[in-house]
Amino acid sequence: MTDASRDPAVRFDAVRLDRGGRTILSGIDLVVPRGSVTAILGPSGCGKSTLLSALTGELAPAAGRVEVFGRAVPQRTRELLEMRKSIGVLLQGNGLLTDLTAAENVALPLRTHTRLPRAVIDRLVEMKLHAVGLRAAADLYPRELSGGMARRVALARAIALDPPLMVYDEPLTGLDPIASGVIMNLVSELNDRLGLTSLIVTHHVHETLPIADRAVVLANGGIVFDGTPDQLQATQDPLVRQFLRGEPDGPIAFDSAPRREAA
Ligand SMILES: Nc1ncnc2c1ncn2[C@@H]1O[C@H](COP(=O)(O)OP(=O)(O)OP(=O)(O)O)[C@@H](O)[C@H]1O
Ligand SMILES: [Mg+2]
Repeated sequence: MTDASRDPAVRFDAVRLDRGGRTILSGIDLVVPRGSVTAILGPSGCGKSTLLSALTGELAPAAGRVEVFGRAVPQRTRELLEMRKSIGVLLQGNGLLTDLTAAENVALPLRTHTRLPRAVIDRLVEMKLHAVGLRAAADLYPRELSGGMARRVALARAIALDPPLMVYDEPLTGLDPIASGVIMNLVSELNDRLGLTSLIVTHHVHETLPIADRAVVLANGGIVFDGTPDQLQATQDPLVRQFLRGEPDGPIAFDSAPRREAA
């Protein structure tokens, strides 16, 4: 582990993240070793997606430093675009283009970011679709895919450029338990087989912990737990227990954020 901690995939060092003039997270220290799968958990509105946006450079930290593979996340557009090629992102909406087939969707990043000849791209697309078990679906359009299949196509597209770091924001939203199991297995398998590092933002605690090496819980503007899944299950911290049990009342101020839904 000494190598991994010397040269982690991701490092947050005393990071503060503000949005709309408000501090969302502060005092964030986080080191993600290469090769690991980390679950980022926490109640709605606690700043999970915000944390990811600092990683992809969409949001510059108000204080502190964010590093990806030993380099500070750049502010300048050109360097930022270059760095983003090393991060595969799967967002909850899939973001597939509806008038392109599954294969064309997966080919898109390869067409945009490489000068590979058509035949090579076709072969790579076939391999990526095969990696998510969907080679037979290459010519289907998104509307012809189930929710689980569409999520897998989006996953194939996210790995198209062989990014060493994968970030998933709520990868299980809208999926039934079986499709969820398939996605989680894939996330885990891809991480191990391709030697990736994965960050999974989710409130699906029970589906995610089995494949995670580590769990980080965000609440009340910071990290309130950082440890193994076993340690998380065993914790007596009332705040973390409240989150795990999904209880509305307790030390987590669920509605501190201005996004309160119903009164
Ligand atoms: N573009 C924005 N401008 C201002 N405030 C924002 C913006 N995006 C998010 N926020 C606020 O930042 C806080 C954290 O939001 P974020 O989306 O990171 O939470 P989350 O943990 O991902 O929640 P969820 O589980 O519901 O996806 C919320 O209070 C939200 O209202
Ligand atoms: Mg979110």
